[in-house]
Amino acid sequence: KIPVILSTDPGIDDAAALGVAFYRNELDIRLITTLHGNVDIGKTTANTLKILDFFGQQIPVARGMETPLVIAPVSTDVHGESGMDGYDFPESTQQVVPDHAVEAMRSLLEASDEKMTLVSIGPLTNVAVLLLMYPQVKNKIERIVFMGGSLCGGNVTSAAEFNIWADPHAAKIVFESGLDLVMIGLDVTQKALIGGSELAKHSNKSAEMFAATFGHYRDGDMEHGVMMHDMCAITYITNPEIFKVEPKCVKVVTEGPAVGMTMEVHGEPNLQAATGIDQEAFRNWFLKTLERMI
Ligand code: BDR
Ligand code: CA
Repeated sequence: KIPVILSTDPGIDDAAALGVAFYRNELDIRLITTLHGNVDIGKTTANTLKILDFFGQQIPVARGMETPLVIAPVSTDVHGESGMDGYDFPESTQQVVPDHAVEAMRSLLEASDEKMTLVSIGPLTNVAVLLLMYPQVKNKIERIVFMGGSLCGGNVTSAAEFNIWADPHAAKIVFESGLDLVMIGLDVTQKALIGGSELAKHSNKSAEMFAATFGHYRDGDMEHGVMMHDMCAITYITNPEIFKVEPKCVKVVTEGPAVGMTMEVHGEPNLQAATGIDQEAFRNWFLKTLERMI
């Protein structure tokens, strides 16, 4: 099994990504960290605990960075007021661990005999602070697979994708870390579509929750499919053959009107960027996973 630490800001598509991740035998999720992002950290943390309850999971959750490194926290209404509008999740009875996310990641990595994969499906602040404060853990990181960025234009501005735009300085630190990076950007995630017809194929509690929340995703189109941005990072880890990835040299724009843009430049590649997706294979991967879910 692949040992994983997951950083998230739920988020309707984060909830779907976490849900499917719990049912993939390839993954061993050791820790979930939360942070600012789609909604404030109080909400993203409460939402994470609610998702664990919903799927009957008990995985340590550590609360992470409340703000981006330099800019003020951004706010969006893309996922509704709660961050997971559309479904009435009961308050969770689970608690976060006492350690801050960065400390929880450090102790887990230091104690681990094997290298771990960091998966980030929100802004990159938790990961950046870990690398800044504890660079010695770099040799315990197998690679960082993150949903964020784009080589084909943005979704918040015409240049920037949300997770990078929400903390461009953190993204810059990660992009320049020298670690193995896989960028799962809008180039592929905008083509990873799940809608009403897929969800109608299985009548379980998960499909019901997905149908209720996906419809509340701004720009969500249940007829043609809703973009499963964050889920693609999970799919990539279990089934990389569904994607085409290419080595690229990509820089993060941290100032000016193009802030948050991930720009391809000439130079030594610093990451693998996902540039293609087999849409049919992705859909089948989702349906196979959904079949196993509650
Ligand atoms: C990313 O932004 C968030 O709104 C989604 O959860 C996803 O992580 C897509 O740009
Ligand atoms: Ca997210």
